[in-house]
Amino acid sequence: MKQIFPGVYKIRGKIATENSTPGFRVYDEKLIKKGDKEYRIWDPYRSKLAAAILKGLRDLPFKRDSNVLYLGASSGTTASHVSDICSSGMIYCVEYSKRMMRNLFQVCEKKRNMIPILGDARYPETYFHNIAIVDVIYQDVAQPNQADILIRNSEKFSLNYAILAIKSRSINAVRSPKKIFREETEKLKERFNVMQVIDLRPYDKDHMLVNLKSR
Ligand SMILES: C[S@@+](CC[C@H](N)C(=O)[O-])C[C@H]1O[C@@H](n2cnc3c(N)ncnc32)[C@H](O)[C@@H]1O
Repeated sequence: MKQIFPGVYKIRGKIATENSTPGFRVYDEKLIKKGDKEYRIWDPYRSKLAAAILKGLRDLPFKRDSNVLYLGASSGTTASHVSDICSSGMIYCVEYSKRMMRNLFQVCEKKRNMIPILGDARYPETYFHNIAIVDVIYQDVAQPNQADILIRNSEKFSLNYAILAIKSRSINAVRSPKKIFREETEKLKERFNVMQVIDLRPYDKDHMLVNLKSR
């Protein structure tokens, strides 16, 4: 077993996080015991962040005590691994689907540093009062204007880093994904330095992951 980032390990060729809630699974992931610790195998086909790590992400902005605003938490697959990594921080999980929220609640009941927020990421003014400090934003919402949504959220907090999953096709089914992607990253440059852009294929063929640092 080898640590590849703080809180992220490589075990038998797969990546994993140390399970902060031993015995508890979020999405049927495999659990592996090593000594007195338990690790959750992190599936790159289910999580774009896991895919990005396997595709050569150079800097993971999450530290043990990072506070994270997670936009588009869905039922908590990736957010739960972020919660394992940032075990002394808080993960504010914004999700606007009530159906997803029901599943997310069950995860947040176990992983006590995950705070569910039923909200719309396009309108940070409706939920930012409930959030103390944010060091990193992780955004994975299938919405048009993804760069605008991230910039709007980043203006509410003095964060250091952001990670954005861009799904070009959801922005506009007609225009070329390459062009859309270029336009979105140009917008991001107003607020961030683009540290790395990662093509997630073969794990995910529709998305790029963009790793950003605040200017
Ligand atoms: C691709 S899924 C996220 C998967 C998740 N990040 C993971 O890796 O476990 C996108 C999620 O964003 C949510 N979503 C889309 N638009 C949103 C918005 N404006 N505000 C909040 N959530 C949104 C959807 O309901 C969906 O659950």
